[in-house]
Amino acid sequence: MNNFDPSDYSPAADLLADRVILITGAGAGIGRAIAKAFSAHGATVVLTSRTPKNLETLRDEIVADGHPRPAILPMDLARANKPSFQQLADRINDASGRLNGIVHNAGILGPRLPIENYDETTWNEVMHLNLTVPFVMTQALLPLLRAADDASIIFTSSGVGRKGRAGWGAYAVSKFGTEGLSQVLADELADTSIRVNCINPGRTRTAMRAAAYPEEDPNTLLSPEAIVAVYLYLMGPDSQGINGQSLNAQ
Ligand SMILES: NC(=O)c1ccc[n+]([C@@H]2O[C@H](COP(=O)([O-])OP(=O)(O)OC[C@H]3O[C@@H](n4cnc5c(N)ncnc54)[C@H](OP(=O)(O)O)[C@@H]3O)[C@@H](O)[C@H]2O)c1
Repeated sequence: MNNFDPSDYSPAADLLADRVILITGAGAGIGRAIAKAFSAHGATVVLTSRTPKNLETLRDEIVADGHPRPAILPMDLARANKPSFQQLADRINDASGRLNGIVHNAGILGPRLPIENYDETTWNEVMHLNLTVPFVMTQALLPLLRAADDASIIFTSSGVGRKGRAGWGAYAVSKFGTEGLSQVLADELADTSIRVNCINPGRTRTAMRAAAYPEEDPNTLLSPEAIVAVYLYLMGPDSQGINGQSLNAQ
C-alpha cells in the first residue's frame, strides 16, 4: 500500500491538458466528481454509465464551466460483451484518435447477505459488473493506451476488498479480485508507458453508500468532490513510475 497524502497534493491547473480519459460510472456519485475534476484540469473526458440523462446533464455542466467538451457514450455494462467494448474502442479512436487513461469506477453493491444465503445468479451479476467488465474493457482498450506516450489505468477497490467482512458477499470478493487484476496487469505492463493502480475511495456520500448503510447520517461522510485528489495524482504525470500500488482516497 502506498502512503499518498491527499492533503499534501496540489495538482497543476493544466495537469491533464490534451489527455483523453474514459470514466465508467460517470453519471453519478464518485465518477461524476472525477469527471468534473479531470475536465477542470484540462482533460477531454469520455463519459459512460447507464442513464443517458445523467451523462447529458454532466456534459452540459462541464461545457458551461468552459472546460473541454466531453464525449458521452451511454452503455449498460451488465449487458456489454467483447464486441461492445471493441465498438467503444473504435468510437473513442474515431472521435479522439487517442486514449491516455481509464478510470474503472462503475460498480454495484448487490445484496448484503451471508455467503450461505447468497444467490448464485446475483453473485454472477455482481462479479460480472465489478470484475469481468473492467478486465474485458481493458483488453479492448489496451491498443489505444499502448499508443499513448503516458497512460494510466485506475481500478476501484474498497476496504472490504482488502480485508473480508461478514455480509459483503460478492461485492467484497469482486473487489479482492480487482486488487488482483490490477497487480497482475501492472506487472505485465511494467516495461511500458502504462501504469496500473487501484484506489479505495473510502466512505463517501453517494447512493451506493446510502444503500449499504441506510441508518448512517450522510453528513458525517466526505462528498465525492472532496476525494478526487488521488484520482488526479494517479491519472496525471506526477505519478509516473507508480505502478501496481493500491492507494487510499481518504
Ligand atoms: N461510496 C463509497 O463509500 C464507496 C466506498 C468504497 C468503494 N466504492 C466504489 O466506488 C465506485 C463508485 O461508487 P459510488 O458510491 O459512486 O456508486 P454510485 O453512486 O452507486 O454510482 C455508480 C455508478 O455506476 C454506474 N453503473 C451502475 N451499474 C451500471 C451498469 N449496469 N452499466 C453502466 N453503469 C452502471 C451508475 O450509472 P447510472 O448513474 O446510470 O445508474 C453510476 O454512475 C464503485 O466501484 C464502488 O464500489 C464506493
